[in-house]
Amino acid sequence: MKLIQTKDYDDMSRKAANIISAQVILKPDSVLGLATGSTPIGTYKKLIEWYQKGDLDFSDVRTVNLDEYKGLTKENDQSYYYFMNENLFKHINIDLTKTNIPDGTEEDAKKECDRYNHVIESMGGIDLQLLGLGNNGHIGFNEPCDTFDKLTHCVTLTQSTIDANARFFEKIEDVPRYAYTMGIGQIMSAKKVLVVVNGKGKAEILKKVIEGPVTPFVPASILQFHPDVTIVADEEAASLLT
Ligand code: F6R
Repeated sequence: MKLIQTKDYDDMSRKAANIISAQVILKPDSVLGLATGSTPIGTYKKLIEWYQKGDLDFSDVRTVNLDEYKGLTKENDQSYYYFMNENLFKHINIDLTKTNIPDGTEEDAKKECDRYNHVIESMGGIDLQLLGLGNNGHIGFNEPCDTFDKLTHCVTLTQSTIDANARFFEKIEDVPRYAYTMGIGQIMSAKKVLVVVNGKGKAEILKKVIEGPVTPFVPASILQFHPDVTIVADEEAASLLT
């Protein structure tokens, strides 16, 4: 695992965006695996800024998002579909038909998971997967449990994740209880993985991810076995690393 330590969130965002830019410049039809959540917002802002300056072209880029809440429509401002449009897609020249996000409105979990597995497979592999890190070590919505799930599946969110995500909803009862997520096997199959982590609140879990044992109880710890992982962490998040 390669660790890039940055002085703050802005610096983390710029460095992560530089890595994504290099990927898109070197391979304009890259398949990018994308994440939502607070952490990558600054990274997406930089990419938008550089696109607007004329430095980046996303017209051939294809994307596949990690996850989506089950039960939220695309118009719901808490859906990850909405998030991706607001925070990235509508500001760049990406072809929306080349973007993929699990369909939160599909009630038949098996049907949606099969469809999404097929989408990922048909793209021929993810070139660069961007990840945030959950407070409990989750990546995508692969929550701590006793096994690593390989493929897309429907998860019951843990109370810790529901509590962490409640900040985006009016009431905690509005936070969906289920989500579709790419599996750990699919994340591990990405050619490169880029993890962005910031803030004191993530310091303990980042230490476990990098220095602790590999265990499905800290899902991101599996990244220790990936051959090409870059973690871009700000000073606060990296503060407990030895
Ligand atoms: C989002 C996702 C999640 C988040 C994680 C961290 O698509 O897959 O794993 O990356 O919950 O979220 P933030 O960045 O809000 O702390």
